[in-house]
Amino acid sequence: MDFKTKIAGASGSAATAAADALLVIVASAEAAAALEPPLADEFARALRDGDIDTKPGQVLYAHRVAGVKAARVAFAFAGGATARAFRRALTAGLAALKGGGTRTLAVSAAGFGPLEAAHGEALATVAAEATYLYRETKPSAPAPSRLGSLTLLCGSKAEAAAVAEGLRVGEALAEGTTLAREWANRPGNHCTPTHLATLALALGRSHGLKVEVLDRKDCEKLGMGSFLAVAQGSDQPPKFIVMRWMGGAKADAPVVLVGKGITFDTGGISLKPAAEMDEMKFDMGGAASVLGTMAAVARLKAKVNLVGIIAATENMPGGRAVKPGDVVTSMSGQTIEILNTDAEGRLILCDALTYAERFKPAAVVDIATLTGACVIALGHHRSGLFSSDDALAGELQAAGDAAFDPAWRMPLDDEYDEALKSHFADMGNVGGRAGGAITAAMFLKRFTARLRWAHLDIAGTAWKSGAAKGATGRPVPLLTHFVLGRAR
Ligand code: BES
Ligand code: MN
Ligand code: ZN
Repeated sequence: MDFKTKIAGASGSAATAAADALLVIVASAEAAAALEPPLADEFARALRDGDIDTKPGQVLYAHRVAGVKAARVAFAFAGGATARAFRRALTAGLAALKGGGTRTLAVSAAGFGPLEAAHGEALATVAAEATYLYRETKPSAPAPSRLGSLTLLCGSKAEAAAVAEGLRVGEALAEGTTLAREWANRPGNHCTPTHLATLALALGRSHGLKVEVLDRKDCEKLGMGSFLAVAQGSDQPPKFIVMRWMGGAKADAPVVLVGKGITFDTGGISLKPAAEMDEMKFDMGGAASVLGTMAAVARLKAKVNLVGIIAATENMPGGRAVKPGDVVTSMSGQTIEILNTDAEGRLILCDALTYAERFKPAAVVDIATLTGACVIALGHHRSGLFSSDDALAGELQAAGDAAFDPAWRMPLDDEYDEALKSHFADMGNVGGRAGGAITAAMFLKRFTARLRWAHLDIAGTAWKSGAAKGATGRPVPLLTHFVLGRAR
């Protein structure tokens, strides 16, 4: 998809824009009245006839409006001049125009004041989100949207420059988010740990990343007894993937992202119930978000050092699988009694966090579809954010807000650690039902004494269930904003 800005002058020339379709985002009824006559009159007539009401997200579609060059026109009512309102109306408007014969689209904003980078970013990300379609294993999927070119009409040169910068960031976010969505959507028999490693290597070549893939033997040498305990029940070989983008100065301490890459989570011997188990192919959503963020940051050639680590394996039952009560030794030397083999995410992440120490990172963020309890706590809107470091937590929270990919901070009081006590090892891997998202985070915290660390539990946000089942690509926008905020 191709994104442009066009300087249309302060009075606007939306009516004469040469495009298949015109989308007018309207902040308020007053802003609509100030549009050029053919557009203002059309809106006023529709309002009078009761065909559009001024509720946020309302869309009016009109075909071949007299005096308007574009054959298709849609008004999307934002009900406010904020970037959030703009984004929401854009989503509704694009839904009405993305199909049919529209190949080129002009977007005009009425009543938003001078457009900024956020508006450009919104256009690129919302367009990618609206037109993404999973096709890989579905030959009968509907034809993809023909929308190929979008132009945001701007009032001045300064506006156009700000919007163009937003488009640049937005296109990178769109690429990263779409990549994460696509790979999380691929079924478990396609998207194996080996396949993830192949994808990481290909991304390395296309985006200028250094990529290293450690196999089972390498992980044995490193003493990753906890990661390998999860992997031992699967016939698919585990992969431990390390990707590096070195856009900063040599001496700059890197940011390290650690992704949970369970390509399918059956629960292991502590087998999950059958209902909706298919959704456990999304259990590599954290890994997908690391891949997507690496792609976005590298595409932008950001002046920052970034390391992406993915611990990838299946979690399967079987004759060689780890059993409840088994005790394993993690790379850190701490022993773990595996009381529930379905709490496998923390078992692979703890060794990846210990491995991250070698990069002497400025900050480490792990991203994981870690607990059903987090879905109960926060639902599907905000990801769970855990950190003992107030500054880091604040930075991540702000990045999520700016990217419209929000998170909510959860507690990590020492009192929660009690639940992890074990009779036979330094700790157990589960803490009981109460506060399950927190005790999972407390488990990870035991491996981060030497790190500035935060944890994102994306169990509720990485994918949607039901009629719109599919990966969301979250939290690539949050992570990319966070990393860009640390660039020089
Ligand atoms: N991948 C799951 C978490 C999950 C479950 C995410 C449902 C989204 C929806 C994770 O590996 C898991 O199974 N966690 C257990 C932990 C429990 C055994 C302490 C859970 O949440 O039930
Ligand atoms: Mn599990
Ligand atoms: Zn899992």
